[in-house]
Amino acid sequence: MEAIKDSVNKALEQLHITSPASQGIPAKEPTEEQLNELKSKYEKAGQAQVFAFYDSLSTAEKAGLYEQLSNFNPDYINEITEKALHPAHTEDASEAKLEPLPVEATSSVTDSKQEDLDKWYDSGLELVAENKVAVVLMAGGQGTRLGSSAPKGCYDIGLPSKKSLFQLQGERIKKVELLAQKKYAKENVTVPWYVMTSGPTRGPTEKFFEENKYFGLKKENVVVFEQGVLPCISNEGKILLESKSKVAVAPDGNGGIYQALINSGIVQDMGKRGIQHIHAYCVDNCLVKVADPAFIGFSASKSVDIATKVVRKRNAKESVGLILQKNGKPDVVEYSEIKEEDAEAKDSKNADLLKFRAANIVNHYYSYGFLESIPSWVKDLPHHVARKKIPFVDTESGNTVKPEKPNGIKLEQFVFDCFPLLTLDKFACMEVKREDEFSPLKNAPGTGEDDPETSKQDIMAQGKKWAQAAGATVVSEDPKAGIEISPLISYGGEGLDFVNTRTIKAPAVIESEE
Ligand code: UTP
Repeated sequence: MEAIKDSVNKALEQLHITSPASQGIPAKEPTEEQLNELKSKYEKAGQAQVFAFYDSLSTAEKAGLYEQLSNFNPDYINEITEKALHPAHTEDASEAKLEPLPVEATSSVTDSKQEDLDKWYDSGLELVAENKVAVVLMAGGQGTRLGSSAPKGCYDIGLPSKKSLFQLQGERIKKVELLAQKKYAKENVTVPWYVMTSGPTRGPTEKFFEENKYFGLKKENVVVFEQGVLPCISNEGKILLESKSKVAVAPDGNGGIYQALINSGIVQDMGKRGIQHIHAYCVDNCLVKVADPAFIGFSASKSVDIATKVVRKRNAKESVGLILQKNGKPDVVEYSEIKEEDAEAKDSKNADLLKFRAANIVNHYYSYGFLESIPSWVKDLPHHVARKKIPFVDTESGNTVKPEKPNGIKLEQFVFDCFPLLTLDKFACMEVKREDEFSPLKNAPGTGEDDPETSKQDIMAQGKKWAQAAGATVVSEDPKAGIEISPLISYGGEGLDFVNTRTIKAPAVIESEE
């Protein structure tokens, strides 16, 4: 057992990653020789301060710190910190040639012919029925702006049903399976749900799934895995301690998904199940159409490696990243990087539209083949610097410091940094309606924007729209009052004929056909 653990850890160390799998396995205090070897590695890298309190620790603490430090390669940490702080000069967006994606790579739900939308939906649902579709959820973020101590997916946004974000998403997966089963007369249709967590979110996420009986899905088809963490670094380039016996760490960003999909054996598991098409999305979007058949069908019909859903940028000033081509490659350009004249430019065919309007909502399609290729490029993905207030133990005084202003950096990878690896013909983009598909939960209650109240409102407004489209009369004292429709009743507005002669008093919830 120890031998296997050692060899796994060695292999992981070569990949410069931490070993989440090793967390939870009780470690024992290292021998003097082991300790000296590790100390000398950190000393040579100029990071010996992490051992400042080692001699005063209890046996268990010594073992824990040794284990944690063994999982990092300090030379590699120095290298990526240096690169992140002083990136080699690459052309920035203001110098680069920016163009919208080519017309043949894009579609818009608003402008597409109904017959195309139906064709994509049907072909996508058929792929679901053939058990070729899986879903990957990115839920490793710490949700600092929302400020809840539980993982964001557990959050109750205040719907009448009190359903959490995880539950809404799990029920949508269940519904897609049922729709495919029914239309294609199949039994046992499965859309596996791979849930990426991080150190802080894994335990509570697993517990929540178990307590809620996997929201009606089979336990073996819900696979929780963990992304890596990286040490937090001071402004002076030193690894920070969170306590005398623990390094301060943070998840390695949503781009950590690629390394984690490989290290946790997820891509292998997909291969065994015969998965060919993958939908990946963020936990905080309450309107996300998980495993959307139309998106899967659209992407598969174009034989691309990656496709992205986007919403229309509201106006030239909106702070959103844009999906476009940069120097002839698919890319994302942040709002802060784009020149004003590009931000303001109008579409050459329609002056009512912005030229660059494809707002990034981190909602992706991947081909299985692309995920299989991760090991060949993942080590080249850059790290980015996020300047943060990071509580730490002062290694001189031993006091814990809670800084008032940013005192250090977290190193993060971005999920879109692999887009430019593709040629334009392997990348596609589908514009969807914001009110139908995008309402992120980012901020604390009461903020007024992207907060629990706006999430709830957007779900209730959608349900009301669906009920009215199905023929129901909706009455309410408050014009803003809406209807919550369970995803198990309707995935995207279908199957609501039973309300057609009803008068519904909003706010209301429809959980069954009764
Ligand atoms: P955000 O960048 O909005 O971060 O994540 P967040 O953690 O939700 O919120 P703040 O910034 O701390 O307030 C966008 C998506 O990427 C995931 C998040 O869980 C969310 O689904 N994410 C982010 C990860 O999976 N891992 C990370 O390391 C970071």
